[in-house]
Amino acid sequence: ILSSSAHSHDEYQKTADWLMSQTKHRPQVAIICGSGLGMLADTLKCQDSFAYSDIPGFPQSTVQGHAGRLVFGELKGKTCVCMQGRSNFPSVHQTTFPIRVFKLLGVETLIVTNAAGSLADGFQPGDIMIIKDHINFPGLVGLNPLCGLNDDKFGPRFPAMSGCYDKGLRCLAAEIAKELGVAGFLQEGVYAMVGGPNFETIAEARLLHRLGVDAVGMSTAPEVVVAAHCGLRVFGLSLITNKVVKSYEDTESVNHEGVLEVGRLRSHSVQQLVTELVGRMEIN
Ligand code: 6GU
Repeated sequence: ILSSSAHSHDEYQKTADWLMSQTKHRPQVAIICGSGLGMLADTLKCQDSFAYSDIPGFPQSTVQGHAGRLVFGELKGKTCVCMQGRSNFPSVHQTTFPIRVFKLLGVETLIVTNAAGSLADGFQPGDIMIIKDHINFPGLVGLNPLCGLNDDKFGPRFPAMSGCYDKGLRCLAAEIAKELGVAGFLQEGVYAMVGGPNFETIAEARLLHRLGVDAVGMSTAPEVVVAAHCGLRVFGLSLITNKVVKSYEDTESVNHEGVLEVGRLRSHSVQQLVTELVGRMEIN
């Protein structure tokens, strides 16, 4: 766990240089599309896309048939790069490799989306949660992408994480949700990352609930930590796909198909919200 960081500055730079030699796009915004939310990438104008497997130095997904690609293009007049297809990469260093490549490409804002189960009593499947803050459970016990030697070119050894989910973007997103008529299922709350791949036991779910977790999932925190470390502005959304089972009386249990189905149901709203947010966010 405490071994030195898996990648040298040179490795990130080589990948960034290769991408810049292959596309004229110079993205200002990077978007990570979570489970079932990948269609956003298809709406980019003037696309250049690259399978992860064709990008030198890029980590490869471990899930067969889940290959995934980077899509560059224009969205509402801003240049974006989307990660389409979950980054089921084997290590926390590999999961966060693209973030530093984005930084070297000139990206200033990262948008992350994911699917999550809800613990908060007022939340329903289909709700969209603006991530206000996170609890990085793997990170708290040392499974942290910043472990190992610090690369001062990206950021400080001991970076602050308070305020890492930009308040201005959260307010703007809430405003846009009202205008789009989706405020009725918009929430804001705390996202917790757990290691997975199994869903929570009932006792674990109750623990998370008592700790103030509103939604739980298996991704996102490592990318956000690395993004905050190198000074990217971050915005995150969780699509609530199911309620986490918290009662021994409850006979239903979560399954991956159900998670994907709610993803499909609300993906258009999530896509609209992200698109408008990109269009209206200020860029330096
Ligand atoms: Cl219930 N738990 C976790 N850990 N991740 C999820 C989920 C639940 N639902 C969607 N993703």
